[in-house]
Amino acid sequence: MMMAVGCSSSSSGGNSSEGEGKVKIVWAHGKDDTAQSKKLIEAFNAKHQNIEVVELEMPQKSDAQHDDYVTKLAAGDTSIDVFSLDIIWPPEFGAAGWLEPLNDYFSKEDLEKLLPGPVEGTQYKGKQIAIPLYTDAGVLFYRKDILEKYGKQPPKTFEELMVLAKELQGKEGTKYGFVFQANQYEGLVCNWLEYVWANGGNVLDKDGNVVVNSPNTIEATKFMKELVDQVAPPGVTTYQEPESLAVFLEGKAVFHRNWPYAWKASSGPESKISGKVGVIPMPKGPKGTSGAATLGGWNLGINKNIDEEKKKAAAEFIKFAVSPEGQKIVAIEGGRLPVLKEMYKDEEVLKANPHFAEFFEPLMAAKPRPVSPNYPKISDAIQRNIHKVLTGGLSAEEAVANIEKEIKEIEK
Ligand code: GLC
Repeated sequence: MMMAVGCSSSSSGGNSSEGEGKVKIVWAHGKDDTAQSKKLIEAFNAKHQNIEVVELEMPQKSDAQHDDYVTKLAAGDTSIDVFSLDIIWPPEFGAAGWLEPLNDYFSKEDLEKLLPGPVEGTQYKGKQIAIPLYTDAGVLFYRKDILEKYGKQPPKTFEELMVLAKELQGKEGTKYGFVFQANQYEGLVCNWLEYVWANGGNVLDKDGNVVVNSPNTIEATKFMKELVDQVAPPGVTTYQEPESLAVFLEGKAVFHRNWPYAWKASSGPESKISGKVGVIPMPKGPKGTSGAATLGGWNLGINKNIDEEKKKAAAEFIKFAVSPEGQKIVAIEGGRLPVLKEMYKDEEVLKANPHFAEFFEPLMAAKPRPVSPNYPKISDAIQRNIHKVLTGGLSAEEAVANIEKEIKEIEK
């Protein structure tokens, strides 16, 4: 493994400014089911005669991308110039010193044009180690046509969601009440935290103390298990985003938790449910004060080991990605939440995503997952234990106690 990585790094590093006099930049990003990444590259390359961005498509799963990048970066590999980074990685990558600080490329004024949450999430000890490309927040999609037909209001609480999902599953060609992501992977942590937060629970408090073992968290975990048992497809504990979206697009589910990109797919011409979908915030639990959304999102960072010429070219690409032109591609082609503030007032963007205007406040209130250089281990503790609850191998009480013990050990 190390050998192979070493070889590829030296050959690609040596090619940096050879060829047709163009600087070639390799941008690695997760599998993109929208046209966003390709359009960004096309638009950038068309404007830059001396730089050529090429893409390296990675698996869709955040965890798999993470492990591949960590192996490469730890070995000093230079086969990738620009990385798409999940919002949970900057503390870890920053602490390891793997990414080029971008403070010299982006002024304070440049950064002020972007949403503050994602900008803060990409800083590590005063260094801007990545620049947000788009942000994410979990939302609840629902079949507007079905709720209207049966005279129902969209749910605001766990209980209302459960009652409606049970009552409406099977109506109008649906089979399931609710579909979401319950595979053992990062997306499960995002889903679970939304119930925990919405029920007044938390993993770490403001001072970093582990507070996960609470009645609120246990109750939220039990609710998730009830969803799995009573209203979700039998395979839901193997579903990631693409599988859950597919069930919803097939017209088989009444409710669907996903990220905003699912709007574009649901309302596109190839969708069987086009024009029949509504989107609302996730519901709140009996012990909570409001529904909660997990903050997600992807960011662009530059490999610290590449040469100066490549770093400059890579920074040009990132600047383009957060320019109005780049961000329109993100919002319209990707259906994703842009990070450039002015996009939320842009007519074309709002036409493609009517829910952006209405949802600006709740989307911006999305909560970050525990911020720690050890986040992958924390996530693993949550994923393993919660997945066992959902598949019937552990009680919610046991799982939450295990998570508390494991995180205390990790953060010691
Ligand atoms: C989305 C989010 C990301 C999250 C992932 C989980 O891509 O943007 O932050 O980790 O989903 O599947």
